Amino acid sequence: MNLLENVSLKPYNTFGIDVSAKYFSTFTTIEQLQAILENKDLNALPRLILGGGSNMLFTKDFDGIVLRNRIPGIEVVEEDSAHWYVKSGAGVLWHDQVLWCIERGYQGIENLSLIPGTSGAAPIQNIGAYGVELKDTFFQLEAIDLTTGKLVVYNKEACDFGYRQSVFKSDLKGKVIITSVTLALRKKPEYNVSYGAITQELSKMGVESPDAKSISQAVVKIRQSKLPDPAKIGNAGSFFKNPEVSASQFELLHKSFPDMVSYPLPDGNYKLAAGWLIEQCGWKGKVVGNTGSHKDQALVLVNYGNATGNEIRDLAYRILDSVKERFGVAIEPEVNII
Ligand code: FAD
Ligand code: EPU
Repeated sequence: MNLLENVSLKPYNTFGIDVSAKYFSTFTTIEQLQAILENKDLNALPRLILGGGSNMLFTKDFDGIVLRNRIPGIEVVEEDSAHWYVKSGAGVLWHDQVLWCIERGYQGIENLSLIPGTSGAAPIQNIGAYGVELKDTFFQLEAIDLTTGKLVVYNKEACDFGYRQSVFKSDLKGKVIITSVTLALRKKPEYNVSYGAITQELSKMGVESPDAKSISQAVVKIRQSKLPDPAKIGNAGSFFKNPEVSASQFELLHKSFPDMVSYPLPDGNYKLAAGWLIEQCGWKGKVVGNTGSHKDQALVLVNYGNATGNEIRDLAYRILDSVKERFGVAIEPEVNII
């Protein structure tokens, strides 16, 4: 068993926060994971499952065991007239999986290009971007149930996916470790270019008939122009979720703020752009000590080098309070604060 003590987590989180874990173990197989779980001493410790650390904010040292998932492997496990069923080890990097599918002409996840992190963490918050969410191609996943130590299969319905939400963030939070994810990728072309920016980028690229590869390239370009690269400046993507308000609350807000960016939802509610709300409160580009809200995307909080997790968390709550005060709207962190 590969077990380290007093390990700095700085290289393992995209915010680049320097806290340490009392114990740290990387597993690449289910058997290695089960061996850790069967060890009485280790199993009694507080546990944290780590993928790429791209949706986490560490605020203190972790006095337990960090289990870093690196289970590899991608393969086609089944095929029918409409789909290829692609199973990936939970430790595969998500973008590598996207490229693997695009190279083979398997369609459906091209809009999710360049999202950091692992395939196994993708279902946790049902990753989404540019009009597509993981749930649109999700087939099933396998996970170790931490109560029984057994491998369990969850189908799409059991995952209870929503916007940046799944059963793994509610009833099953901390109760399972995902070991593989199987997606149903489309054989027939059926692309989603409904996001205006994609159409614009494709036309800049001179693409007349888009395919999965060109859509992926367009998404990569858009993301690189808007989002800071964690390798250069620490961040975890959108720090907050876009909030939802009722139709009546939206009417009132819209009267006072006609420019407010919003999207009608099928259930009659409205989603608001948290980036717009935060920008209107004057936070965009503001530097506060070692942290701040990014100059190109107010929703992204950044570490300018030596920030602590508490500094970033405190800034996040100041932002949240100011949005509540100005608009009466509650924004919630998307990032897991630990
Ligand atoms: P981690 O941060 O390591 O973990 C996230 C959570 O999942 C934690 O609670 C962890 O305990 C749990 N977890 C991780 N692996 C497992 C497992 N195998 N079993 C059980 N629990 C597990 N997200 C989007 O949805 N859309 C975007 O467009 C997007 N853009 C981003 C851009 C940037 C620059 C960054 C830094 C982040 C972005 N994110 C985005 C957020 C992030 O990439 C995703 O949430 C991603 O799925 C996190 O994967 P990870 O492996 O890094 O998970
Ligand atoms: N906006 C502003 N000011 C800002 C930022 C945004 O006014 O500083 C407004 C703009 O009008 C813009 C609108 O907000 O048109 C939406 O902005 P953008 O297209 O950048 O998307 P977002 O809503 O800010 C969401 C996801 C991203 C995902 C993109 C693309 C959430 C919380 N975030 O951001 O996901 O990549 O859409 O689909 O839903 C993440 O979850 O970490 C993440 C990066």
